[in-house]
Amino acid sequence: MERKKVLITGASKGLGLAIAKRLSAEYTLILHASKPESFVEEISGSHVLCADFADSDQLANFCKQLKKEHGDELYAVINNAGVTFDKPLNFQPEREIDAMLSVNLKAPIMISKTAMKVFGLNKRGVIINISSVVGETGHAFQSVYAATKAGLVALSKSLAQEAAALSNEHEIRVLSVSPGFIETDMTAVIPETEKEKILGMIPAKRFGKVDDVAEAIAYLLSDKASYINGTNIHINGGLI
Ligand SMILES: NC(=O)c1ccc[n+]([C@@H]2O[C@H](COP(=O)([O-])OP(=O)(O)OC[C@H]3O[C@@H](n4cnc5c(N)ncnc54)[C@H](OP(=O)(O)O)[C@@H]3O)[C@@H](O)[C@H]2O)c1
Repeated sequence: MERKKVLITGASKGLGLAIAKRLSAEYTLILHASKPESFVEEISGSHVLCADFADSDQLANFCKQLKKEHGDELYAVINNAGVTFDKPLNFQPEREIDAMLSVNLKAPIMISKTAMKVFGLNKRGVIINISSVVGETGHAFQSVYAATKAGLVALSKSLAQEAAALSNEHEIRVLSVSPGFIETDMTAVIPETEKEKILGMIPAKRFGKVDDVAEAIAYLLSDKASYINGTNIHINGGLI
């Protein structure tokens, strides 16, 4: 059986690592993190490609390397790498604003641009962008982070339409998912009082686990989800 090649960005820990583990039996993986030392677990048979997406030269080189080393065979991209610096906007340094814009939004745009060229030639491909519930609801002290996540939803919907407009022969899907509160390093720093408040807003009465998201991604990537395109899927236990 054909082993399709899938790039997962931010695969060193948290959601990205869980997605990598869930997909590893079926796909050949290209795993990304900001630097090689970030990987503490090895997934056999996978390729590693590192770049700090906050650095525009490293991002450009990453896209070049991706195309050169894996381009022809690339089947799917999971744009998962993300960073947040939570604080009131009037206290946010410009370097943090730039880092969130670059890691969370510019990198998925540039990687999608690279992937779309390959998908166009191969006439198939899937892009899944990891957005967030806050991209829809907004969240105090996450103005820039939330804006980048809303941007990913618009990017996915637009790109899905663009792929269809380019050719009727393409089987290219682009979509986003919006996790709610998932237990990872990113959410570990949230104060307990805030966590309790959020828990009270989740009808499922629990925080999400990385495997809740990984399972959904595995389905959305599969041919079983071939009619799910140009949309945003919420994975949040009912949190709105
Ligand atoms: N956890 C949640 O509740 C939640 C909810 C909604 C959406 N999300 C989104 O889901 C995605 C994964 O989140 P997570 O909770 O798994 O986060 P995490 O545990 O903090 O992992 C973040 C990943 O992104 C990579 N990354 C961070 N800064 C980077 C940079 N400058 N350049 C390249 N890669 C960088 C990290 O690589 P290094 O290890 O090398 O730093 C790591 O692999 C993010 O896009 C996040 O916004 C999370």
